[in-house]
Amino acid sequence: MIDKRLFDLPGMKKYAGILGVLVFIQAIAIIVQARALSIAIVNLWNLQSFNTVIVPAIVFTVAFLARHLLTVTENRVLFPFVAKTSGDMREDLMAKIFRLGPAEIDKRGTGNIVTMALEGIDQVQTYLMLVIIKILDMSITPWLILLYVLFLRWEQAIFLFAIFPVIILFMIILGLAAQSKADRQYEGYQRLSNHFVDTLRGLPTLKQLGLSKRYADNVYEVSESYRKETMSTLKIALTSTFALDFFTTLSIAVVAVFLGFDLMDGKVMLLPALTILVLAPEYFLPIRNFANDYHATLNGKNAMSAVLAVLHEPEMTEREVLPDLKWNNDSTLKLDHVSLTYPDTKQPTLKDISIDIKGMQKIGIIGASGSGKSTLINLIGGFLSPDDKGRISIDGQSLPHLNQANWQKNFLYIPQNPYLFHATLADNISFYVSNATESEIKNAADKAGLSNWIKTLPDGLNTMIGEGARTVSGGQAQRIALARAFLDPSRKVLLFDEPTAHLDIETEASLKNDILPVFNDHLVFFATHRLHWIGDMDYVLVMDHGRLVEQGTPDELAQRNGDYVKLRSEMGAADL
Ligand SMILES: Nc1ncnc2c1ncn2[C@@H]1O[C@H](COP(=O)(O)OP(=O)(O)O)[C@@H](O)[C@H]1O
Ligand SMILES: [Mg+2]
Repeated sequence: MIDKRLFDLPGMKKYAGILGVLVFIQAIAIIVQARALSIAIVNLWNLQSFNTVIVPAIVFTVAFLARHLLTVTENRVLFPFVAKTSGDMREDLMAKIFRLGPAEIDKRGTGNIVTMALEGIDQVQTYLMLVIIKILDMSITPWLILLYVLFLRWEQAIFLFAIFPVIILFMIILGLAAQSKADRQYEGYQRLSNHFVDTLRGLPTLKQLGLSKRYADNVYEVSESYRKETMSTLKIALTSTFALDFFTTLSIAVVAVFLGFDLMDGKVMLLPALTILVLAPEYFLPIRNFANDYHATLNGKNAMSAVLAVLHEPEMTEREVLPDLKWNNDSTLKLDHVSLTYPDTKQPTLKDISIDIKGMQKIGIIGASGSGKSTLINLIGGFLSPDDKGRISIDGQSLPHLNQANWQKNFLYIPQNPYLFHATLADNISFYVSNATESEIKNAADKAGLSNWIKTLPDGLNTMIGEGARTVSGGQAQRIALARAFLDPSRKVLLFDEPTAHLDIETEASLKNDILPVFNDHLVFFATHRLHWIGDMDYVLVMDHGRLVEQGTPDELAQRNGDYVKLRSEMGAADL
């Protein structure tokens, strides 16, 4: 129930120490307050002079103020720590996601990551604010009060002590029920975020297919089920708060009744009896506070689990194994019996891949969809980590994986849908080269075949594009990616992952004219299932079910009458 991970947060021990001292003083203030109040009442009851009441009344007031001022102080002390911790957590989360790369976003979903980084961290902040002081309060205040009661009258101390584990047990049972509900609620929440973002992104497609109404219903259903989950969590929260309040009130009543009997029997004096009675609710207060907020904090706790799960995800270390590299005609890249298994699958997706590449070449990667082309490109780009067996090397330097800073500086990655930032066209082109001049950018745009389109734009290269601005067609997005490659001649390796897969034949043909020149003097990996590209390649890798079933020059493959020829006939001559 108490989250042990809290104490692993950096700096937590120091703050817990400071807050612990404050809570300790506060507990003493509570005892002093109860004692002073009791003395004042007993003196009044005994009809003593009013003067005997003044001092206890002042002490009571001071203790009362001190107690509440301490609450304010504790929050003041805690807030900067919580703000820093959650701020750091957000930064760490973003940095980690950047390091983990696109595979991580695929795995968790964009919507989920966005809500995690924005709202999730805010929930963590609320959670930390609510829970840290309450835990300290619960672990200090009741025990000091108990000690004092023990000193006044051991019978009541034992009763209070004995009832505590029962309450804890009670809370644990209700807490577990609430936790499983809240887990489901959080899953629902993640599903809702992913669903919502997906639907927004897919809206054009949904409209075209006439499915937007059905999807609106779908979003409604998902949010409705989230609402129900929230309500059922709240139901448990309310029930358990009620039960706990009832139970502690009952315990206080029992204490009062027995004190009453003892008073009548003359076994106890009025002052200690009254002090114990005033302190009894204070004894239960911290645990009630904790329980009352427990449900409010579950979301934050779950959000923190989600954030920590990402932060603790293993990532590829040893990113600096490769010494400085400028890919040139003599450079070599070697994969020797390399396999790759996705974390959540048992069978390897890439099996026993061996390639030996030297200098500048155009390498086509072909195969049916699902054969492992993207996985291979991602392995080469270092976005995915290979299995342990097998060897990878660049220029003879053996490497654990290709997530090498010095290798990644050498390539450009052009996927099916290159991402366009909400920025000007010029900024999108000069994305990799921040110091490019305007004429260099224009030149690159010309080479990529963008000039005719740019002429039609009101602000030319300074037109805003990306989400929320001018929309860009698939072919234009590819050309912008291509312009990035033209602009940065220092990146000699190009990784293409089906750049033309969703383009129509004419757009593809015109794009091809502009792409081919950039291939010269580069090492190109070009994954495609459109076989007409093969004629422009120097070398072809044929993938099938994660295996590299054939490799060679296009002519060799054509003559061999093996998998390539089979694939070609399966895909139909029309594509050639
Ligand atoms: N993130 C992933 N986790 C688990 N399996 C995956 C993942 N991405 C792809 N796969 C599986 O790996 C195989 C190869 O996929 P992929 O490399 O995308 O093929 P291609 O690009 O040739 O269409 C497929 O069976 C696919 O389902
Ligand atoms: Mg693919």
